[in-house]
Amino acid sequence: MSEDSKAQITTFRTASYEADPAAVHRVLLLYSGGLDTSVMLKWIQDEYSAEVVCLTVNLGQPGEDYAVIEDKALRLGALECNVVDAREEFAREYVLPAIKANALYGDYPLFTALGRPLIAKLAVEYARKTGCDTIAHGCTGKGNDQVRIEATVATLAPELKVIAPVRSWQMGREEEIAYAHEHGIPIKSSGGAESEAPYSIDDNLWGRSSEGRWIEDLDHAPQDDVFQLVTPPERAPDEAEVLEIEFERGVPVALGGERLELVELLERVAAAGARHGVGIVDHIEDRIVGLKVRDIYEVPAAAILLPAHRELERLVCTIHQNQFKAGLERQWAYLVYAGLWWEPLRADLDAYMEHVNELVSGTVGIKLFKGHARVVTRSAPGAVYDASLASFAESGGLFSQTASPGFIELWSLQSRMAWRLHNE
Ligand code: ARG
Repeated sequence: MSEDSKAQITTFRTASYEADPAAVHRVLLLYSGGLDTSVMLKWIQDEYSAEVVCLTVNLGQPGEDYAVIEDKALRLGALECNVVDAREEFAREYVLPAIKANALYGDYPLFTALGRPLIAKLAVEYARKTGCDTIAHGCTGKGNDQVRIEATVATLAPELKVIAPVRSWQMGREEEIAYAHEHGIPIKSSGGAESEAPYSIDDNLWGRSSEGRWIEDLDHAPQDDVFQLVTPPERAPDEAEVLEIEFERGVPVALGGERLELVELLERVAAAGARHGVGIVDHIEDRIVGLKVRDIYEVPAAAILLPAHRELERLVCTIHQNQFKAGLERQWAYLVYAGLWWEPLRADLDAYMEHVNELVSGTVGIKLFKGHARVVTRSAPGAVYDASLASFAESGGLFSQTASPGFIELWSLQSRMAWRLHNE
C-alpha cells in the first residue's frame, strides 16, 4: 500500500483491535459474493499488499449458489475460499436458545443478531487455521452488525485484528461499481438497472431483512417487490392450514406427527408460513448505535414457532414463572441484539431458560390464514390446568368458591387502606 494511504488509515484507528496497516499480511475476508465484499477482496490485496482467504457461511439463506461464489472469490485472487455449511450449528446453538427465550426485540424476532456471532466465531476459527492476522467484514459504520462481529472477534481472539473497509474507503455505490469495472469484478445484476441500488438484504433460515431504497421513507407503504420470501397476504390461499407442532423440552421435534431433524423442521415451517403470508413485520428499530432505522422483515418460521412455543410454555408454567420469565427474555434479547452474545449473563439466563424448558413438552395447533398465525389447539401432559376447576360448574376438589370473598378481603387490604388515606 502507498505510504500516503497507510498513514491515513493509521490516523483513523480508534480501537485497539483495529489493524495497523503495516501489520496486515494475510486477511480472512467474510465473503458473500456481493458487490461490497467482491470489491473488498481486490481492494485489500491492492491497498494492503496482503493475501486474502475467503470464508462464506451458509446459514440457510435461500437461493445461494456456493460454487459460483467460491469460483468468483478464486478468480478475484483469493488464496482459498472456504464455504461452511453451518445450518445445523446455527439451528441448535443459536436458534434453539432464541426459541426457549421467546426472543423478540421490539416487535420482531431476532435472526441477524443470532447469525453474526456464529459467523464471527467461524471467522476466528478459519483465520487461525489459515494463518491470517486480520479479519475483514463488509459491515458499514451505521449498523449493529459491525458491533456483533467485532465484539465477537475481540472477545474470542484478542490476537486478531479487524478491518472494515466500507467504514473507511469513502466509496459510494457508484464508485464501487466503477472500481469493479476497472478491476474486472463481475457484478451480478439485481434485476433492475445496474445503477439502481438493490435492497440491502440479510437472511438466514430464521428470517430475512430488507433495508434501503423506499424503506427509508417512513411514509412509504411496502412495495410487493420487497417480499422475496413471504407471499403478500392478499395473494395467500383462501383455505386455512393448521400446523400441528410437537415440542419436547422446548425443542420443536415433529410436524403433523412426523418427526423431523431441526433444520428441516424449521425450513418446512418457514415454507408453510411463507405460503400463507405469515411473518411480515414492518418495523422501526432503535439501534445500538443510536439511529432509528426502518426494516422490512420476513420471518415466517419464527412468526409460527415463537407463538407456538410461548403458548405451550405458559400452559405448563405457573403465573409466577410466566411473569418472571418475560423480564429475563427481554434482557436476553437485548444482550443478543446488542452484540453481547458472549457476555456471561447470557449464559446465566440460558441456564434459567433451559431449566424452565424441561417442562415444555406437548403439541400446539396453529392456524395459518392470509398473514395470520393463531394458536387454536394445545395439549401438554404437564399443563397446570384442570378443566373441571376452570369450568363454571359448582366448586369442589381443590377450589372452593365460598373461600373467594375471604381471599378478596385480604388481597385488596393494602390497596383499600391506601385509597382511603389518599381520598378521604
Ligand atoms: N436491523 C436488523 C438488526 O440489526 C437487521 C440487520 C440486517 N443486516 C444487514 N446487514 N442488512 O438485527
